[in-house]
Amino acid sequence: MFDAENFIEETVEKIKEEVPGRTLIAFSGGVDSTVCTALVNKAIGDQLIAVNVDTGYMRKNEPETIKKLMDEMKLNYRFIDASDKYYKALKGVKDPEKKRKIIGELFIRLFEKVADDEKIEYLVQGTIAPDWIESGGGLRDTIKSHHNVGGLPENMNLKLVEPLRDLYKDEVRKVARILKLSVSEKQPFPGPGLAIRILGEATPKRTEIVREACDIVEKEIEIAAEKENMELPWQYFAVLIPTKSVGVHGDKRAYGSVVAVRAVQSIDAMTCSFSKIPVNVIDRISNRITNTLGDEINRVVYDVTNKPPGTVEWE
Ligand code: XMP
Repeated sequence: MFDAENFIEETVEKIKEEVPGRTLIAFSGGVDSTVCTALVNKAIGDQLIAVNVDTGYMRKNEPETIKKLMDEMKLNYRFIDASDKYYKALKGVKDPEKKRKIIGELFIRLFEKVADDEKIEYLVQGTIAPDWIESGGGLRDTIKSHHNVGGLPENMNLKLVEPLRDLYKDEVRKVARILKLSVSEKQPFPGPGLAIRILGEATPKRTEIVREACDIVEKEIEIAAEKENMELPWQYFAVLIPTKSVGVHGDKRAYGSVVAVRAVQSIDAMTCSFSKIPVNVIDRISNRITNTLGDEINRVVYDVTNKPPGTVEWE
């Protein structure tokens, strides 16, 4: 049985040994990196600089929420708006693994720049077990290169420290609850962000579409769960599919793209089952997406695939 109190005590001591001086931490505001930051903060306090990168593939209002959280946690932080760099780097790139590698590499190059400026050698990441298990290596097949593992460049200068490496998400949440972190129940969000929820090229325009669709899915599902119509899924979002279908807009023919709605139940992300959410909730999501994004989207589908054979994200 995982003992979260014990884990906190042991990990703080281990970090003190592993990280001899000032260090950077990759801070996304998600459960994993926030727990990791809180532990490193306990261990080395002011020696820690939290770095948040706005890749341009964040959810609606996310950069502001992250800044607020970094302020609340009284972190010494740097915020990098790298959206233009990411859009440029991903221009014309359609292959999911290529996207992941480009995102992972740019991530490290940005951290290396901060590390150089600050004369720092160490980078702490909130990598957890499913990230490296699915990223392959050794005898395992690469399911997908998680941006913080398989997406990392080979020639990186920073020394990596990953205190949560052996933990699964439910265990990280237990630690977060003990540390009384406001993000303890937050749904996971992948490091590569909306870029892997846009099948095909992740252009700024397509990003805006999926950002809006994700926001609608999140809001409608959270409202329904609060009203106790349904259990809050483990993860819930929208995916933009690069296929067009014929529809009707007013009395005119429409030829628009498709959005898939994904909501899953899981414990540790290694397997999941699709959420059986009430049809009236799907109906509201569908109407809001087509009303708000009608010029682009004229069809909404619900993903009824478990993992395996699917994965949680589509890329
Ligand atoms: P998959 O799609 O592999 O996702 O079933 C399992 C869980 O991991 C998240 N995910 C990522 N998290 N970096 C992350 O930090 C990544 O590159 C990445 N890819 C997927 C996904 O959202 C789900 O919670």
